[in-house]
Amino acid sequence: MNIVVDRERLIAEIEELALISDAQAPAVTRVVFSPTDMKARAWFIARCEKAGLQVRRDAIGNTFARWVGSDPAAAAVGTGSHIDAIPNAGKYDGVVGVLGGLEAIRTLQQSGFHPKRSIDLILFTSEEPTRFGIGCLGSRLLSGTMPAAAAKKLADKEGNSLEQLRASAGFSGPLEDVKLPDGYYRAFVELHIEQGPLLEQKKIPLGIVTDIAAPASLRITIEGSGGHAGGVLMPDRRDALCAAAELIIEIENAARSSGAVDTVATVGICEVFPGAVNSIPSQVHLTVDLRDTNLARRDAAMRRIEAARQSIALKRQVSIVEEIVNADAPAQCSPEIIAALSAACSKHRLPFIPMVSRAYHDSLFMSRIAPVAMLFIPCRNGYSHRPDEYAAPEDIERGVVVLAESLASLSS
Ligand code: GLV
Ligand code: MN
Ligand code: MN
Repeated sequence: MNIVVDRERLIAEIEELALISDAQAPAVTRVVFSPTDMKARAWFIARCEKAGLQVRRDAIGNTFARWVGSDPAAAAVGTGSHIDAIPNAGKYDGVVGVLGGLEAIRTLQQSGFHPKRSIDLILFTSEEPTRFGIGCLGSRLLSGTMPAAAAKKLADKEGNSLEQLRASAGFSGPLEDVKLPDGYYRAFVELHIEQGPLLEQKKIPLGIVTDIAAPASLRITIEGSGGHAGGVLMPDRRDALCAAAELIIEIENAARSSGAVDTVATVGICEVFPGAVNSIPSQVHLTVDLRDTNLARRDAAMRRIEAARQSIALKRQVSIVEEIVNADAPAQCSPEIIAALSAACSKHRLPFIPMVSRAYHDSLFMSRIAPVAMLFIPCRNGYSHRPDEYAAPEDIERGVVVLAESLASLSS
């Protein structure tokens, strides 16, 4: 089997998809169920159909493009990722796994290979938490990690419910039907940019992911007392933003003092109400993103944040309410899929290292119903979630070669 990637075609497609965006190039913004997301999906489906794949969409919009195998009843092999992009993002996060997956399939078709098991290229809905405040919505539902009833309660900031939004995007049918049975996939492999600097620093072209870190996210609302910035004297203040400031530092401390560099905490959103120069903040909304490779340590950091919440509320006489949006367990990748990826690297004489994924991915949730592993390629300076995110064409090509080789062995 001779695997020849059409690198020019793939890079041209990545560039073309990047132009379907709500941000000015080179930035990419593609929020789930926006007209831009829908345009990008239609563009993608047209390419899959051109490659002879059978396209199916589920009730949440997860899109499956299937290369039917010679044994259609056998459990399929999956690959794929996402094309939604956070505001002011780059071109490669998720896209390399989706368009790279398509190129891997076309490459195998070109080589004359015929899979025994069907191969599904999956475009997952809303890997990014931008719209609904929770990431990996499509794969959470697919894997049964999130019950349909919980998804039905989701809404965006404007108050549009998930149910309304998916209906207007043309996705109908019960959300209950999205969950796939255990055993539906024999294997799942996701190609992705590293989103960190290690491969580039070590000058190694590929990383095989052995573990995916455990993410958690919280929403915190602080209620104090507003008033006139001149009239209310300091001893009488219950300033919600000052309480938030203390809490943010405690959240940082919770990660810094965990005893491991793997614990990371981020307050990415801080909304202040009423947000006027001469008005004491009466209400603040914060989001917390907390991750670790070790679940016990991640949970210990969560407990420390909880203790800080209680003591700051008491000290400053404000109300601080915390809602856990998600607190997911880490995933261990499958030794068998790791072995398939390693063998593919060796066959093509490509050096690789084992890696931990500190970002979360749809693979985290696919691991609940199928053996998974991920393949990382370098990205310049480790940059991601920013417009200057960049992966070199030769690195993308190497990733696609190994993905194609692995899909061939797993589907045989
Ligand atoms: C995914 O985009 C993440 O935030 O890890
Ligand atoms: Mn991302
Ligand atoms: Mn991603």
